[in-house]
Parts: sequence; C-alpha cells; structure tokens
Amino acid sequence: MKRATGSAAVAARAAQLKAGNSEYARRRRQLARLVGRDGIAILPSAPVRHRNSDVEHPYRQDSDFHYLTGFDEPEAVAVLVPGRDVAEYILFVRDRDPLRETWDGRRAGPTGAVERHAADDAFPISDMDEILPGLMENRERVYYAMGHPEFDQRVLGWLAALRGQAPRLGKHPPQEMVALDHVLHDMRLYKSRVEAGLMRESARIAAAAQLRAMRFTEPGRYEFEIAAELMHEYGRNNATTAYQPICGGGANSCILHYRENDARLADGDLLLVDAGCEYQYYASDITRTWPVNGHYTPAQRAVYDVVLAAQQAAIAATKPGNHWNQAHEAAVEVITRGLQDLGLLKGRVPKLIKDGAYRKFFMHRTGHWLGMDVHDVGDYKVGEEWRVLEPGMVMTVEPGIYIPAGIRGVPKRFANIGIRIEDDVMVTAQGCEVLTSDVPSDAAAIEAAMARRKG
Ligand code: GLY
Ligand code: MN
Ligand code: MN
Repeated sequence: MKRATGSAAVAARAAQLKAGNSEYARRRRQLARLVGRDGIAILPSAPVRHRNSDVEHPYRQDSDFHYLTGFDEPEAVAVLVPGRDVAEYILFVRDRDPLRETWDGRRAGPTGAVERHAADDAFPISDMDEILPGLMENRERVYYAMGHPEFDQRVLGWLAALRGQAPRLGKHPPQEMVALDHVLHDMRLYKSRVEAGLMRESARIAAAAQLRAMRFTEPGRYEFEIAAELMHEYGRNNATTAYQPICGGGANSCILHYRENDARLADGDLLLVDAGCEYQYYASDITRTWPVNGHYTPAQRAVYDVVLAAQQAAIAATKPGNHWNQAHEAAVEVITRGLQDLGLLKGRVPKLIKDGAYRKFFMHRTGHWLGMDVHDVGDYKVGEEWRVLEPGMVMTVEPGIYIPAGIRGVPKRFANIGIRIEDDVMVTAQGCEVLTSDVPSDAAAIEAAMARRKG
C-alpha cells in the first residue's frame, strides 16, 4: 500500500490527532475523577538531555506526560484542576519564536496547545510563576511526583509562598502532597483499545526485525551487523529502538545485558538477539536464539527445547485470575526438571526448586510489565500479595538458560549455550494474546526460516 502524500497525509494526520486527542481526554477525565475537585495535578515534561558537548539526545517526552497530554515538546507543564469553571486542563508551553524555530524546529505555542492539543487554556511557560500558584490556592491536595531536581524546588517554593500569604489573605493553601506517579502508573497498567492497537503494531515491527536479522545471520558476520538489520527494520517503519539491542554470539549469549555487539559470529555458535522497538511511544521486547550456521547442535537443541517448554508453560499460566508469579513458578518447574534431565542439576526436583538450584543457570525472573516503558510501570504486588492478572495487562514472558564455559561438572558440549525466548503477551478475557507470534520460536521453524535466507 502506498503511503499518503500531500493533502491526504495532512488529512490523515488531522484525523489521527483528533482520535488521539479523544484518547488523551479520556485519560484526563479518569485522572480528574481520581484527583477530585479539591485536588490539583501538576506534571512537568522531560528535560532535554545532552549526549556530549552541545549535542542533544533525540528528545523523548516523559511517558506519563505523553500519556496524559500527547504533547511532545520540552519545557512544558500540564496542570489539571478538576471542576474549575474557566479551564480544567491547562498547558504551559514554550512561546512561539520565529528565530528559534528556524534553528530548532516548530513550536505549538499557547495557541497551538489549545487548537491542536485540546488544552482548555494555555500560557507561555515564562508566565508560570505568576499563574500556577493561583491555581493551587484553595485546593486541599497537590498531586505531584517528586524527582525533577529543579521543578521540585519550584513546586515547594509556590507551596511555601501560599502558606505564608494564607493568613493575611484568608485563603486555604494545600495541606497534602500526593504521589501523582502512583495514580498514573496504575492507570497505565491497563491498556486501552487504542494502546492495544499500538502495542500490536510495535510487536509486529519488532517481529519483522527479528526475522530480518535471522535471515541475515551467517558465520563471519559481526554482531553489530545484526544490530544494524534490526535498526533498519525499525527505521523503515517509523519506529526507534526501545533499548540498546543485545546481539550476543557464543560466550556473549550468556551475558544477560550484553552491550558491546562487536564480536564476529562463529560457525557452530548460538546467537541470542534481545531487541524491541518503540512505535508511537509503545515498546516491544523480543528475544530469539538461533544457530549462526542455521542448524542447532544436539546439545543446543536439547537446552533450547527446555526453554521453549518453560516459556509455553509460563504463557499457559498467564490468564485472568492467576497471579503475577504463577508464570514464573511454571517456568521454574519446567527448567528445573529439564536441567535435571540433562544432568546439569542433581537431586529431586521439588528440593532443587525449594533450594533455588536453578538460579545457577536461570538467574532472572520470567517477565516484566510492558508498555510505554520497556520495563513498564505498575506494582507487581498489592500489599504482600502478588497482583492478580486482569484483561488489558501486558507483559513479557522470557525464561532462559545460560551455561557459560568453565562451570565445574558441566560437559563441554553445553559450554557457552545461552538461550532466552521472549514474547510479549496481553491478558484477555479468556487467557492471553501473544503479540509477537509473527516470529517463530519453535527450533525447527527457526531452522526453516534460516534455510530461506540464501534462496
Ligand atoms: N531487554 C531487556 C529485557 O528483556 O528485559
Ligand atoms: Mn528483552
Ligand atoms: Mn524483557
């Protein structure tokens, strides 16, 4: 299908903005209900970060800020004042500036913030000190997430000034500060229909990238060439990388967060690729492990099939009503039994599980929440209890076995086998949907996909 160009593209963008605006408005209404008419919520945008000298990192809006506003410029502050007559949703933004815009790009300005981003009212950020304290007075609670070094001081300064003036002016300044991030993060844990669609697209792109990397692999290539294939597939789909890809061949497959990506791929080794993209602010996160020459050795295949069985058991345990840890428990059981079958652990399975013997080869947990952040927000426990799964929650399922060379008592044929299989799943009413199923995880299907690489 051809991409829309010219006026069609403008119309498509306008439609997208309108649909997006209603989604952001829905989220603000939900937050407004939680904040209540005696509260006020204040949220600053992400700062611009420098990489080196005067070179900036690509700007990435703060996830909470984007979630609530869809406004992606720096130097902005969003304020929600539920029930306020004149304007409930206020944006402070950079003013228009033709010279700066010539150098650094377009700005919405206060007018654009109202017209295109659905703010009830908007002001230049330079006027914030005069306007924002007035919005806070007579509100009981301030919903704000501490942790922004400069902005924290400003919020505390406004509060102190209001308290100082209150007796004289007969006003009632806020008495309580509430953690806004906690409220927003619980909202973000449940993905809406719009979010589910974006996550499916992010997963589709990341799966296509894994297949592309798989087909490109052969002995003699470098790990960075594999990473380049992933990035190419992301870029041509208007996505970026969600985190630095992990492309670890041979011994490097046993380093969980391997970063160098600079080694040459050797015949007979495995290659572990853990990579995901960010599409319209939503992350995917996939791991596959394939043989550099296209064929698993019997020892590699034996370990692979244990990890795959563990992942399938974990996915089967990912359904509404089950709690967060049940997928991990299912994976631990299959991996422990598999390691014992392979002779890598000795003893009775229940005792090996109880003693955590599997941790020697499986040292991480089976998954994490996934969303706007790759390790997404949301509590894993409610009080002392593991969280019960509900439709709309999205997580990864990613068991692994890692056998670096040099472990005493481990036969040489298992040396430097590091295998992880990671998919993204969404809890549904019936069970769960695997978002990343476009990329095969069965060993035979992977070999078949690789066999097509030269044809
Ligand atoms: N790539 C990091 C993770 O899988 O959690
Ligand atoms: Mn991953
Ligand atoms: Mn992950």
